[in-house]
Amino acid sequence: MNAADRDTWLAAAAEQFGTPSFVYFTEAIAERIAALRHALDDQLALSFAVKCNPNPALLKWMVGRVDLLDVSSIGEFRLALQAGWDPALVSFTGPGKREFEIREAVLGGVGLLVLESLREAGIADEVARAAGRVQRVLLRIAPDSVPRGFGDQMAGRPSPFGIDLPDAREALEQIVAMPGLRLAGLHIYSGTQCLKPDAIVENYRGFLSIFADLCEAVDLAPDSLVLGSGLGVAYHEGDTPLPLEAVASAILPDIASFRADPRFAHTRLKLELGRYLVAEAGYFLVRVVSLKQSRGVSIAICDGGMNNHLPASGHFGMVIRRNYKMHRVGGGAETGTYDVTGPLCTSIDRLAGGVVLPTLSEGDVIAVHNSGAYGLTASPIHFIGHAPPAELMVVDGALHDVSRFFETTTAWPGVPSPEGQGALATA
Ligand SMILES: Cc1ncc(COP(=O)(O)O)c(C=O)c1O
Repeated sequence: MNAADRDTWLAAAAEQFGTPSFVYFTEAIAERIAALRHALDDQLALSFAVKCNPNPALLKWMVGRVDLLDVSSIGEFRLALQAGWDPALVSFTGPGKREFEIREAVLGGVGLLVLESLREAGIADEVARAAGRVQRVLLRIAPDSVPRGFGDQMAGRPSPFGIDLPDAREALEQIVAMPGLRLAGLHIYSGTQCLKPDAIVENYRGFLSIFADLCEAVDLAPDSLVLGSGLGVAYHEGDTPLPLEAVASAILPDIASFRADPRFAHTRLKLELGRYLVAEAGYFLVRVVSLKQSRGVSIAICDGGMNNHLPASGHFGMVIRRNYKMHRVGGGAETGTYDVTGPLCTSIDRLAGGVVLPTLSEGDVIAVHNSGAYGLTASPIHFIGHAPPAELMVVDGALHDVSRFFETTTAWPGVPSPEGQGALATA
């Protein structure tokens, strides 16, 4: 679908369902899935990280389109099951799993529990044994270094994620000795948002070498090895999109020689990723409520901002705030420079600084690009009490309302009112 057709859908979405709203184009996600499979020659199974967009309708659409799901809380596990996912195809990562989460996941048939500590291993072992089961697990390893170029690093320094590489062998030996667990393989997710193909390839090579060393050390023929993708998205004007072909052509020979080792003959290699699959397929729509000239600056004050889309406001780990790409729905020549702000009473609620757009009027709709991942799910929607945004999905030429329900009631049963008999009335 070309940009003009997408714009027509965005205009229709804003017209029919209002703003603020998110619009997801499934066709773009399908194209990205196909491009990845083709470039990687089907050597890596695709596991979608639910954390980046847990919209239930999207998870349902993903069934049969990606191979696996990765969840990071019991809430995400429940969403996956409700969306029709076979729990056997789901893995569960996350550094702070509580006992009840591990219990529910194990008893619920989770395919792979990704252990981030020996504490989790102990709990899972106990739960599995009590239920007369053996739980398949992966151990998450935190490597000693992450190549330069990753926007977010989760290893190579003190980190809550997984077992540090120097401690991995001993941890693996302990896990192998637990009768309620079967060590199925290893997991590494060390960083993300990388647009440099060389750095991504170097990272994957590091993973393969760690996998080979550790599997040899504990004599493991794994059935599953997970590579955290790190594949980044060109969020900002001037960013060069990641050349996927360059990554694939460099890493495929390494994968081939890795597989040549009989130890890995039956191993399934998996790429765990979120944003690269869905970010570019999503737009965040806001409507201009008010225009203001303030000391020489044109400000467009909109009906949605950081409360709906925290990352676009630059407060989700961005070191230097840069504007997400955006355009005015309906197009037009770019003639004005604007600060675009949301409706919140805080100066950090800003979607753009000095962005060039067509001359704006009240009622115009602005579409923020790259909003299909870490949009609504990464945002403080309860701050400052505005209604949640709609979520819309364009599937096979039709627009669907896939909004989630959020509790917006102002009646709290059990809390005494001033005229009631409770503490407030007598105070
Ligand atoms: C363990 C794990 N897997 C997958 C992801 C998805 O990353 P991305 O959306 O950048 O591909 C993350 C992101 O933080 C993660 O922590």
